[in-house]
Amino acid sequence: MTTILRGRVLTFVSEPQGLDDAESYRYFEDGAVTIADGKVIAVGDYAAADASGAEVVDHRPNLILPGFIDTHLHYVQSQMIASYAGSLLEWLNTYTFVEEQKFSQQGHANAVAAAFYDELIRNGTTSAVAYCSSHPRSVDAYFAEAARRNMLMVGGKVMMDRNAPEALCDTAQSGYDDSKALIARWHGKGRALYAITPRFAITSTPAQLEASRALVEEFPDCYVQTHLSENDAEITFSMELYPSAPDYTGIYEDYGLLGPKTLLGHCIHLNHRETHVLAETGSVAVFCPTSNLFLGSGLFDRERLSKSGVRIGVATDIGGGTSYSMLRTMDEGYKVLQLRGQRLNPFASFYMMTLGNARALSLEGTIGTIAPGRAADLVVLDAGATPAMALRMATVTSLAEELFLLQTLGDDRSVAEVYVSGARAKTTLGGLAGTTA
Ligand code: GUN
Ligand code: ZN
Repeated sequence: MTTILRGRVLTFVSEPQGLDDAESYRYFEDGAVTIADGKVIAVGDYAAADASGAEVVDHRPNLILPGFIDTHLHYVQSQMIASYAGSLLEWLNTYTFVEEQKFSQQGHANAVAAAFYDELIRNGTTSAVAYCSSHPRSVDAYFAEAARRNMLMVGGKVMMDRNAPEALCDTAQSGYDDSKALIARWHGKGRALYAITPRFAITSTPAQLEASRALVEEFPDCYVQTHLSENDAEITFSMELYPSAPDYTGIYEDYGLLGPKTLLGHCIHLNHRETHVLAETGSVAVFCPTSNLFLGSGLFDRERLSKSGVRIGVATDIGGGTSYSMLRTMDEGYKVLQLRGQRLNPFASFYMMTLGNARALSLEGTIGTIAPGRAADLVVLDAGATPAMALRMATVTSLAEELFLLQTLGDDRSVAEVYVSGARAKTTLGGLAGTTA
C-alpha cells in the first residue's frame, strides 16, 4: 500500500548558517511524500509524484516536516511536572525521588507510559531519549509501549546507589546486572535502543561508575546518558564526592563514560578544559531550556560550545522541563540565547528539533529527515491553529516568518497530524486498544 502525503514539505540537509542559507534545506511548495512499508520512498514536487494506485492525503496548506526528536526527558516524571521548588537538589529530594518510587508497581508504570506516549504524539515528537526509574519494570513498560506504537525510542534504567531514598537505590552490582538484562531484552529489538543511565555523579558511588564503565565496554553500541553541570550546588557536591577529579566532566571522563554515544543533559557551567574534553570525545551537550529556566539553573552557552566543536542536542527534560512541545522548547531556547546575546534563526531551530537531534544520536540515516529510505516519522504543522496565530499568519510573507511564528506561538494545537512508521498517530489517539490511561 502506497500513501502520498501532499502539502508544503520542509526537510534539512545541513545546519542553517543564517536566514538566507537556502542550501541547508529542501522546500517543496506543493510537495509530495510517498510512503510504503513505513518508510519514505520518494519526496519532491507533487506534480512529479506517481499517484497511480496510491492513497493521497491532502495536508495543504499545512507544512510536513520530519517528526520532532527529544533527546532528554524523564517519562517517570510525567505526574510531577510543574512541582514548586527553588532549585535542582531541593526539587529532586522533595518531589522527584518520591514520585519515582511509584514505578515499583508494574501497573503504574504501564499506565504512565501510555499517557506519556500520547503526550509525545500530541506534540509531534516521534522519537525520544528517556530516563526510566531505577526499577527494571519501568523500562519494560517504556519499551513495550513504544513497540506497540512502532516508535524509535531510546531509554534506560536509572542507576543510583546513594544520596537518594533506600527504596529507589540499587547497588553497583544490581544496577549492572539489571542493566545488562535489560540490554539483552530490549536493545535492538524492533526500534528500541538502550541507554546506560547512571543518573549523575551525586547518586552514583565510584563502584557504580566503575560498573557503568564495564557496561559501556561490553555494549559499545548502547548510548550513555547522564546529567552534567546543571546547577552550582550540584557541581560543588559532586566535586566533594570525587575530590581527585579535575572538574565535573573529569568525573565521567575518569570512568570512561564520554564518547560519541554519550548524551549529557544541561552542560551549563563548563570550564575551558571541560568544553575541550567534550569536543575531543564527541560527546553531546543537551540544551534543556524550559528546565534550565524553571529550576533557575542557568543559561546554556550554545555559541561557545558550538565554536569549540561540541555536538549539541535539544530537549524538553520533562519533568524539570515544563512542556512536552519541542516548539515551546525552542521558543524558550530562543529566549535563553537572547539573554546570552546569541541569535537563533528559525531555520536553525527547526533543524535542531529534527536533523540536528538525529545527528546528536548518530541516527541521521534513519530519522530526522524526509528522504528515500528514512522512516516515515513525520509531523504536520498548522501555523494558523489558534486565533492569535491565524491573526499573525495573515501578515506572514515568508517561510522563515512562518517557522518563527510556529515556534513562538505554537504548541500541541499546531500539530495537525503525526505519522509514525507511516501510520497516522495523532488523530487516531485513543483508538489504540488498551493503551490510554
Ligand atoms: N539531575 C539528576 N537527576 C535529575 C533529574 O531528574 N532532572 C534534572 N533536571 N536534573 C537531574
Ligand atoms: Zn534530566
